[in-house]
Order: sequence, then C-alpha cells, then structure tokens
Amino acid sequence: IEALSPRQDFMGERVLVSAGPTQEPIDPVRYLSNRSSGKMGYAVAEAAAARGAEVVLVTGPTALAIPPGVQAVAVKTTEEMHKALTGHLAWSTIVIMAAAVADFRPARPAGQKIKKDAKFPTALELEPTVDILTDLADRRTTQFLVGFAAETQDLVSHAQAKLKKKGLDLVVGNNVLTEGSGFGSDTNQIILVDRTGRLTELPLMSKRMAAHALLDRVRELKPDNRV
Ligand code: CTP
Ligand code: CA
Repeated sequence: IEALSPRQDFMGERVLVSAGPTQEPIDPVRYLSNRSSGKMGYAVAEAAAARGAEVVLVTGPTALAIPPGVQAVAVKTTEEMHKALTGHLAWSTIVIMAAAVADFRPARPAGQKIKKDAKFPTALELEPTVDILTDLADRRTTQFLVGFAAETQDLVSHAQAKLKKKGLDLVVGNNVLTEGSGFGSDTNQIILVDRTGRLTELPLMSKRMAAHALLDRVRELKPDNRV
C-alpha cells in the first residue's frame, strides 16, 4: 500500500542512481559485459521519484523504459559512466550505485572489426577499469553513499567488507545465484548492511518493494535534507 501512494519523504533530496551493465569494446561490433538487466536500479530510481526526490539515472544499455519523473543519462562504457556520475556528484545528496560495472576491459580494442579469416587473436589482454564507487567515496562531501554487492557465496561477509573498503554508508547485498534473486529477475532477496553495523536480511520480494525497503533504510540513516 505504501508503494502505491508513497509518502513524500524524499522531497528535497537529489538522488543519483546508476543501473544496468557497462559494455567494454573488443572491436567496433563486439564487447565484454555482464548479465545485469538494470531492473533493480530502475526500481530504485522509480521509487525515489515516487517519494518526491529529484532523480538522475545514469544507465548502461538496458531494455527498460525510463521511469516517470526520472532524468536519464545513457552511457555504455565504465569510463562514460564514471564521467557522468562524477559530473552529477556535487548536485546530488544521495548516490545509489546499482550498476553492474565491468571490472576489466580489453587493453587494446581493435579499431576495425576483427575478421575470422585473418590472424584473429586467440587471447584477449585485459586491464582493470576504474572503481567508480571508490572514486565517488573519495570525492564526496556530504552525499549519502549506497553500494551494491553482487555475490555468489559468503554474502554477509563480502557485503560487510565492501562497506568498509569502499567507505560507504550502506551496502545492499544480493546472492545472484539464489533462485528468484539477482540478474534478470523481477524479484530480489537482499540484505542491508549499514555503517552502524546493523544487518537486515529481507525476504524474497519484488524489486519494487526491495527498492522501497532500501529507501526506508536510507531515510532512517540520513538526516532529512529539508530545512
Ligand atoms: N563498482 C564500481 N566500479 C567498478 C566495479 C564496481 O563502482 N569498477 C560498484 C558497483 O556498482 C557496486 C559495488 O561497486 O555498487 C560493488 O560491486 P561488486 O561487483 O559487487 O564488487 P567489486 O568491488 O567489483 O568486487 P568483486 O567484483 O571482485 O566482488
Ligand atoms: Ca565487480
């Protein structure tokens, strides 16, 4: 019921959300990416807007419609996502990093399509991408910073480690191998780990409800922006 006519408890907040995968070119027609659908990040953007926030959604390539009242910035590579997010950081009061960012990229993408009949490479040399969230944590002033942790095992300990290592206020963990959870699904089973050490394991629910549960926790932890 709360999700259908939510209270305007994010009025005055400017929420910067990232969503979807990033794509790293191998050549002009091929890329490295991951299985992110963008559904969780879009649900967060939609929920924040419904609760009265101004929302900018920096999104990698997805098949989803931009939620009502949300301003979208479309990107493909990790570098483009990094630039768009740092460019909006000073504007924002809350940053929610739901994107599944590529950790590696081809070190030397080919300028032309690699042909199968030529001497095609049998291995791909990779280099690390920038860790956007760590960089945002370094640059932030008063922004409330939320990260995600996509894991296949030891969810709680990995989520706690990411909270500490990246200097975040809140981490949303999900086991991407759990049935009905993670990539592509309309539902998610998340845990919330916050900087006070509180750990909440939520049951399996729609990504829409999970987004509202996450925003409820943000509202509890962050001082209200309204004067
Ligand atoms: N993230 C990021 N930039 C990257 C990689 C990840 O900003 N280059 C962000 C994600 O958007 C997420 C958080 O960092 O909010 C954790 O991402 P995750 O992939 O779970 O962890 P990593 O730190 O990348 O470590 P690993 O993949 O090895 O578990
Ligand atoms: Ca990663």
